Amino acid sequence: NWTTGNILEEQVERIRQQIGDARVICGLSGGVDSAVAAALVQRAVGDQLTCVFVDHGLLREGEAEQVERDFVAATGVKLYVANEQERFLSALAGVSDPETKRKIIGREFIRAFEEAELAIITEAAAHGEKIKFLVQGTLYPDVVESGGGEGAANIKSHHNVGGLPEDLQFELVEPLRALFKDEVRAVGAQLGLPQEIVGRQPFPGPGLGIRIVGEVTKERLDLLRKADAIARAELTAAGLDNEVWQMPVVLLADVRSVGVMGDGRTYGHPIVLRPVSSEDAMTADWSRLPYDLLARISNRITNEVDGVNRVVLDVTSKPPGTIEWE
Ligand code: XMP
Repeated sequence: NWTTGNILEEQVERIRQQIGDARVICGLSGGVDSAVAAALVQRAVGDQLTCVFVDHGLLREGEAEQVERDFVAATGVKLYVANEQERFLSALAGVSDPETKRKIIGREFIRAFEEAELAIITEAAAHGEKIKFLVQGTLYPDVVESGGGEGAANIKSHHNVGGLPEDLQFELVEPLRALFKDEVRAVGAQLGLPQEIVGRQPFPGPGLGIRIVGEVTKERLDLLRKADAIARAELTAAGLDNEVWQMPVVLLADVRSVGVMGDGRTYGHPIVLRPVSSEDAMTADWSRLPYDLLARISNRITNEVDGVNRVVLDVTSKPPGTIEWE
């Protein structure tokens, strides 16, 4: 039977045999799966692995640092960072349609990742080496789902950051292919990854880009990051991280409403809280969070985040709502 200990040793041994002395790259998204896959491969082949992190500027507060600082500190992995915030902002300028945003983010991500790949391939070639393998954090449910072909994945154009370019010239290393999410988290913990990475709730590849209803701008991203950080901190402080599956925080950038602050009238944006409980994200129900917690989140966001004068709660199940707003 499986214990984390022998999954780990067995996988490390298998990875070593597959990779031999070749070089390998792995894209990090900030999520659990790519982090654990990379940490396993690093454990198996050390510096033969180079990780690539494309920072698209659509992550939440602290998440880029979690990858660049905490993940590197915990694993000693060799990391190539592509700072692409400007690229994504300019590609998204003037775009409000959700599917168009998703396509742009997906396309730019693949391009940015390929450019990073090229830089690494070139560096390896200078040492007479070749990159032969690409690590993917594919889980068992992903394997089953892509075999099925039907379902929620078709409702919105899902893409996973770290998604594959079509003209794939690498062999795949998929160390998580037989595992479920909770086993992946256990392996990650065993490998010494920080709890913030291992325990992270699902977060969509297109990131905050699809949590701003309206055009994505730097100012709006900064505003949403602040509101989201407050909501997450309060949820954690209330000890409810494990009660909710995830809690998207959404900025209705195209909506404004009238409010009052001190002696003055305000005309600001609403923030939507979308806490849901779910088993697998295919269906979901809205989480009945305690009123006191909701009150704290609302007070803090309206007081601390300039430009937001209202916090609203999404009480829609899935279906008919989806978890994300776009
Ligand atoms: P929806 O909004 O379809 O979301 O109910 C279901 C789950 O999928 C996540 N999600 C994504 N994950 N790339 C991802 O990797 C995406 O484009 C994407 N869109 C939604 C969402 O956060 C929820 O967990």
